[in-house]
Amino acid sequence: MSLTQNATVVQPEASLASIVVRCMGCGMRVPADRPVTQCPACGDLLDIEIPISAPIDRRVFGTALPRHLRSSGVWRYAPLLPRLPEDAIITRAEGNTPVYWDDRLAHYAGLEQLGLKHEGHNPTASFKDRGMTVGMSHARAVSARVVACASTGNTSASLASYAAAAGLTALVLIPEGKIAGGKLAQTIAHGARIVQVQGDFDAALRLLRQLTEQYPVYLVNSVNPFRIEGQKTIIFELLEQLDWKVPDVIALPGGNLGNTAAFGKALADLWAAGLIDRLPRLLTVQAAGAAPFAAYYASGFDRYEPVTAETVATAIKIGNPASIERARRAIQLTNGWVIAVSDDEILEAKAAIDRAGIGCEPASAASLAGIRRLVRDGQIAPAAVVVGILTGHVLKDTEAVVSYHLHDHDGRPRPGANRPITIPADFAALERTVADAL
Ligand code: F0G
Repeated sequence: MSLTQNATVVQPEASLASIVVRCMGCGMRVPADRPVTQCPACGDLLDIEIPISAPIDRRVFGTALPRHLRSSGVWRYAPLLPRLPEDAIITRAEGNTPVYWDDRLAHYAGLEQLGLKHEGHNPTASFKDRGMTVGMSHARAVSARVVACASTGNTSASLASYAAAAGLTALVLIPEGKIAGGKLAQTIAHGARIVQVQGDFDAALRLLRQLTEQYPVYLVNSVNPFRIEGQKTIIFELLEQLDWKVPDVIALPGGNLGNTAAFGKALADLWAAGLIDRLPRLLTVQAAGAAPFAAYYASGFDRYEPVTAETVATAIKIGNPASIERARRAIQLTNGWVIAVSDDEILEAKAAIDRAGIGCEPASAASLAGIRRLVRDGQIAPAAVVVGILTGHVLKDTEAVVSYHLHDHDGRPRPGANRPITIPADFAALERTVADAL
């Protein structure tokens, strides 16, 4: 081979050896040719370093890729992702989710304009598919046989789907009786092996981590740094949709805090790549009954205490978030906020989103409830450009819809409750019932 052969810039060959995985605590480099979930030396979280040489041309995204990768809203951002061997990549054209601008919801929040990026438009109807395509591709690259997660429902649905596509065995641990019906149905239908733990999510994750330490089981929870890499693309895609104009605030719900961590990393990458010239402020919104991160923030990130979680938003019913420290970095990097909103605020915001024809699951509505609160408190100006992330589809949790609209609460219907009316099969009865709408 001659060094003078040509002058074209050749991308380094995609290989596991070229991927730098490093411990966020002790800095040790960990090989990427095996499952990686925590530092073997100190047990801390792992991080993937993407070599970015600025400036990256924004027109590069989606180019020079085979069609199936180009049409993925994750892999089109390949220059900002770990370079996994192409034949290991398992993709279902995830991402490519819309941003809705709705005047009624802007008004509800007290803003002049509000964007809602709907991650419920992913293949399994939640944002989890973005991290899953990267995690599952790494699992294939290291020849994993069994892939596993503990989940409040959406990760399990996504894992089950991608494992089926990849031909791997999916093992799912869920808190018994505490995940929404749509998510359980997906996980069952896609053929995952489901173990219902008599305990909460935190107990299920603890058990699974023990299992993965002793057996060759590939852990796909968001402690897995490859998952975080995929979830960064929510931000990449959002910024591209906004013509790279940085919004003032990006709000999202917080549970295990993988997404908050991923957003911080995505913004740091975009900054390093010269693609943005300022940072938005992140707003992580927790449910009041599951808000250890909000309390940690309120203490100036001085005191952290896990809680026993309780909330109607089952997706974020998590008392001891695994990614808490990397999420802290994301909030500090962006001068962000972490707040807690009540279940009533979440349900009301959800009803407003649903009523606007957009729809989302309860946890997603924490974004809007949180934005509304900070506008009311004067922390976000009405003229600010704000984008909320809707993390999951309305059909994930139909029980929540039924309960809100059809059941009284404290002896009264909830605000805006929409109750179907039953009539006999009789035309006069129909006329009487709908007269006011005609
Ligand atoms: N919204 C939805 C719909 C979720 O399913 C989750 C997390 C979150 C928000 C919170 O994201 O954990 O990154 O802070 N669901 C996980 C699961 C825990 O198992 O499906 P996070």
